[in-house]
Amino acid sequence: MIQICNLKKYFGSNLILKDINLSIKKGEIFALVGHSGAGKSTLLRTINGLENYQDGSVKVFGKEIKSMQKSQLRDFRKKIGMIFQHFALMSRKTVFENIATPLRFWKYDKAYITSKVNELLQIVGLEDKANSYPSELSGGQKQRVAIARALALEPEILLSDEATSALDPNTTKSILELLKKINRELGITIVIVTHEMEVVKSVADRAVLLDGGVIVNEGSIQKLFLKPDKNMQKFLGEEAIVPENGVNIALYFPKEVAFDCVITNMARKLDKDFNIVWGKIEKLNDSVLGHLVINIKSEDKDCVLEYIKKTGVLWEIME
Ligand SMILES: Nc1ncnc2c1ncn2[C@@H]1O[C@H](COP(=O)(O)OP(=O)(O)O)[C@@H](O)[C@H]1O
Ligand SMILES: [Mg+2]
Repeated sequence: MIQICNLKKYFGSNLILKDINLSIKKGEIFALVGHSGAGKSTLLRTINGLENYQDGSVKVFGKEIKSMQKSQLRDFRKKIGMIFQHFALMSRKTVFENIATPLRFWKYDKAYITSKVNELLQIVGLEDKANSYPSELSGGQKQRVAIARALALEPEILLSDEATSALDPNTTKSILELLKKINRELGITIVIVTHEMEVVKSVADRAVLLDGGVIVNEGSIQKLFLKPDKNMQKFLGEEAIVPENGVNIALYFPKEVAFDCVITNMARKLDKDFNIVWGKIEKLNDSVLGHLVINIKSEDKDCVLEYIKKTGVLWEIME
């Protein structure tokens, strides 16, 4: 649905996107992740033709964006909705009118607008707020209005630029649930830009990690988080503090074994002592991941590793 090949984008003489390659499938929730300044928003904006590019190709619905005429671009943008961190609502207009704006622009008739806006209010759970003004709404409600407006023209793709970054954790959760519902029930492909790992973990199917305009990691959420490589670890800021004596082993439990008693069984079978340095279990979209660091005596290393290899648990010696 979205195909980006060897994309290069400059602002003046600054190369901002350096040879980006990615492809997003219909029906996916895809995340562009990275720290501030990485180029996420710029990349997102090339997808709906809001940013030009100097080299490479950006194809959406099979069409090269650069080659579209103005009128083609206008029709094309109709199929892509967008939401932002600060909602971008019109403060002088009611919720109903905010949502109706794109429909009025495209000159739909009155009866259609009324029924469409009411349907959208229901989808986002704001049936009782049609006549309220943005200033009377909470942040989460404002984002719901923005989402309804983005869906007004029945887009095939929804672009979200840090849509939950201004919201508290619980509101973030409810907005992410809404995005998942929209993806599932309306079949809309969603591309989210975020610097928040929790967002990626809870909704995305796949992601790319951007750093300085370069894709430094990519893949399914399971792949990215199960055994984070150096780039992911750097982004996550996880610097483990571990004992200096003995051998530290990081263990990663894929969902199939996340709840197994691998470690206690190992202790019993091998009759070895070890320390649990730290551990956590977390939810990842619809599955769970476990992560544990243990410390063992140097002389036990070989037999412990031999045991672990048989269990299906992924491991890594921490240097
Ligand atoms: N309109 C612009 N003109 C010049 N430089 C820009 C413009 N927009 C963004 N940049 C620069 O491009 C880089 C990437 O910005 P951006 O895509 O907004 O990153 P992110 O969304 O990941 O925080 C930054 O260094 C930023 O300063
Ligand atoms: Mg940004």
